[in-house]
Amino acid sequence: MTDTLTIRRPDDWHVHLRDGAMLEAVAPFTARQFARAIIMPNLSPPVTSAASAAAYRERIMAALPDDSGFTPLMTCYLTDDADADDIATGHAAGIFTAAKLYPANATTNSAHGVTDVAHIMPVLERMQDIGMPLLVHGEVTDGSIDIFDREAVFIERILEKLIETLPDLKVVFEHITTEQAVRFVDGAGPNVAATITPHHLHINRNAMFTGGIRPHAYCLPVAKRELHRLALRKAATSGSAKYFLGTDSAPHEIHAKLSACGCAGIFNAPYALESYAAVFDEEGALDRLEGFASVHGPQFYGLPLNEDRVTLEGGSFTVPESLNTGGSTLVPFHADSELAWHIVQA
Ligand code: DOR
Ligand code: ZN
Repeated sequence: MTDTLTIRRPDDWHVHLRDGAMLEAVAPFTARQFARAIIMPNLSPPVTSAASAAAYRERIMAALPDDSGFTPLMTCYLTDDADADDIATGHAAGIFTAAKLYPANATTNSAHGVTDVAHIMPVLERMQDIGMPLLVHGEVTDGSIDIFDREAVFIERILEKLIETLPDLKVVFEHITTEQAVRFVDGAGPNVAATITPHHLHINRNAMFTGGIRPHAYCLPVAKRELHRLALRKAATSGSAKYFLGTDSAPHEIHAKLSACGCAGIFNAPYALESYAAVFDEEGALDRLEGFASVHGPQFYGLPLNEDRVTLEGGSFTVPESLNTGGSTLVPFHADSELAWHIVQA
């Protein structure tokens, strides 16, 4: 008998959909699987106002068929000059679901990010008051800190203090990559949660150097040692409501990946749910996939659960080497490898 698994339609609580031709190329992959997604605001220029978020939301909807059923949830890119009133008004109007903290220069298009959290304290206090979640890229940018330690040092230097100062602020520690992050999230109150990507559940840092340099395995925060991957697998499949699905799918054109200074980002949107299902299956936790993918996220954000369902079926298929779509060549996560589950009813 074929194995099947039917779950509530999942949401993606962290995705980069880009803009222009790339948006048109990648948005359908996300909308195929997910009902809603938290849309990252690191465009160039970044999405820093409610007006620009509303306009971006329109462009996302225009890139999808009318009957896609997909809802983009918009975020505000915080800068040192972030305007608490505009953010609170945008949140009240249903334009902004959350705001994103990029430490300045931590990653792609983060040059306008926050240079010191002290600069945005009034905004964060306001967000705490109105119950608006803060989404955190948790890495220090201090070049003297080893790149593999930047998340752990961010916890010590910034996150612990932030949570102490604003104990009721809703915080999503995005794309966690370390056992230190798991320990921090487990030890914090119910207002602190984390997203976990499929790639950090599948690969450790060796994947970047297998037989040569592997740019398609490079993302930020960078994959860490095996012990960290195992800690993430344990957290994701634990059933804890603090952990939920966030792909951090971050497409870059193939030439931008295969370069002397290649961009950070793994494009996992095409087979994201299948990728997570493989992990939960390997961990003997398929019964917990629905919580992670479809329940914990909406509960944290205070949004209703999706009512329709997606069915996965056991039976392997090979992920294509590359996808030529909308004039872009993109290499998906798991390119040319097998995945053990596929979606039969999207
Ligand atoms: O690998 C990444 N790519 N990490 C990020 O934080 C940003 C993202 C992107 O936008 O390309
Ligand atoms: Zn991201």
